[in-house]
Amino acid sequence: MCGIIGFTGNIDAEKVVMEGLKELEYRGYDSAGIALIREDSDEPYIMKETGPVSELEKAVDKNMVSSFCGMGHTRWATHGGVTDINAHPHYVGKTVLIHNGIIENYQELINSYELRDKMISETDTEVAAHIINYYYEKTGDPLESIKKAVGVIKGSYSFCIMFSDIKGKIFSIRNVSPLVAASCEKGSLIASDVTALLKYSKKYFVLPEKVIAELTKDGIVLRTLEGKETEPEYLTVDWDMEAAQKSGYPHFMIKEINEQPEALERTIRPRIVNGKTDFSGDGIPDSIFKNCERISIIACGTASYAGTVGKSILEPMLKIPVNVYIASEYRYSDVITDEKTLCIVISQSGETVDTLEAMKLAASKKAVTLSIVNVKASTIARESDYVLYTHAGPEISVASTKAYTVQLAALYLIAAKMGEVRGCISEKEAEEFTASIGNVGKTVEEMLKYIPECKHISERMAKSRDAFYIGRGLDYAFSMEGALKLKEISYIHAEAMAAGELKHGTIALIEKDTPVVAIATQKNIFLKTISNVREVKARGAFVILICRDDETLSEDIYDICVKIPEMDDRFTGFAVAVLLQLIAYYTADGKGLNVDKPRNLAKSVTVE
Ligand code: G6P
Repeated sequence: MCGIIGFTGNIDAEKVVMEGLKELEYRGYDSAGIALIREDSDEPYIMKETGPVSELEKAVDKNMVSSFCGMGHTRWATHGGVTDINAHPHYVGKTVLIHNGIIENYQELINSYELRDKMISETDTEVAAHIINYYYEKTGDPLESIKKAVGVIKGSYSFCIMFSDIKGKIFSIRNVSPLVAASCEKGSLIASDVTALLKYSKKYFVLPEKVIAELTKDGIVLRTLEGKETEPEYLTVDWDMEAAQKSGYPHFMIKEINEQPEALERTIRPRIVNGKTDFSGDGIPDSIFKNCERISIIACGTASYAGTVGKSILEPMLKIPVNVYIASEYRYSDVITDEKTLCIVISQSGETVDTLEAMKLAASKKAVTLSIVNVKASTIARESDYVLYTHAGPEISVASTKAYTVQLAALYLIAAKMGEVRGCISEKEAEEFTASIGNVGKTVEEMLKYIPECKHISERMAKSRDAFYIGRGLDYAFSMEGALKLKEISYIHAEAMAAGELKHGTIALIEKDTPVVAIATQKNIFLKTISNVREVKARGAFVILICRDDETLSEDIYDICVKIPEMDDRFTGFAVAVLLQLIAYYTADGKGLNVDKPRNLAKSVTVE
């Protein structure tokens, strides 16, 4: 949600900032802006444009500016519409500010600092710029003015601040919203995400909360609000630029779909030791799995649908209550949580603010927190008691694909471990289950050969306004992710429905040719789902049936049938996921839409 990049050094700042903005654009693409401290003027150069970074790039007059210090912002609008005025940077007095987050008490601040007549935008960020500037005018001291401002500002923020009369310096501070920083021989950089730094440094650090970073071309100094200098804790990125490029694919989404076999291998292989699931490399003790009496899975979006699959695997195996909570709901419902609760928190980015806050709430009620996170050293990973990293590599496309299947893999590994340590399954069963987990990469590889079938389905899908995804049990859990994938990138209204529930209302929406993707991979309920398929077929639906190879079916109940290879019922999700991803991808692409950056969305949601 909003991307931030700042650079000061000995090379062209405009170039570094622009490159960074392109890497960060997945975080928001309502508008983009840049501010550069000019070598030859006391006025900073500021340019802001609605639309993608490419629009900003066209607008910036490169010949007009010579600068070695600047910052840029790509916006996902929260307060105030998508306009040039509301775009960042905000420039007030001598203060130039970019911001990611939400300032909760901005109305109160407008009143107490008498800003109503001074505001030119509708943003909470401009309020912060006024306050920082107010203290800067009073004290003339950048550190003091930032300290005073954050003393009154409530909410989440990562700020990058420049002062028009201080050349070559960027100041930063954050609360909740992410910021990472690095320095190299070309200068110092700060950004919302490490992908924007990678070209310059593989070594970086996470800016600690409420610590002021002062960036100069020679390095970065960190100071607490009390003025004490503190040392950063450096981390190293374990993937390279290539992983964050399209590498010949037309979109990141299709590249990431294709990367799933290796991503699964990286996530699974190190955790299978002598045929058993082993988390010793992750430092996760068996005791957390033995001692709990209930599991709460907390997540948002795709990650919550991975959690729903996890519930359907864990609960029947462990015979303890397993509930999945959407993080934004968990925070405001008094869910039973105590020291006997294992709270599994799932997040690709590790920064989703609702998920983070829900996890903190669970921890305050003494739950043990275990996060499943893709981004190393992200806030959720750092703040959970234990972390199981997925190793999908950077996921750039807003629609999550490889992050979902590796989240499933992590949940299956947890099931194998818990089943065994709690004595719910025999050692032999645990080993068989673990061996099946070891095979999911191959399953996914096999499914990537179904591109022609999926393209064929997508041609039909692209003509529709609505689509329904139905299934029972695990198949219902898969259908939720399938419907989300389609709607978020193709803008076709898609709804997932428990197949047996259709007749209690939703079936009223089935008309001639309405596409219904029926997922029927679970043997024990196959015939029940098929009865529901007949019900929609009888009402004219265009049925796309996904089932197993070994099922015999009469051809009159479907229009298109895709058969997945024979496998253990519990593992069909890995195969189905690939089909549903490919159907969504080719549908959106066929409609000529911006697959990687669907409208109104952002990859990392750091606002509530
Ligand atoms: C956004 C993204 C989704 C993602 C969700 C949760 O809505 O567009 O793809 O599933 O956030 O993100 P997280 O990083 O916590 O998994």
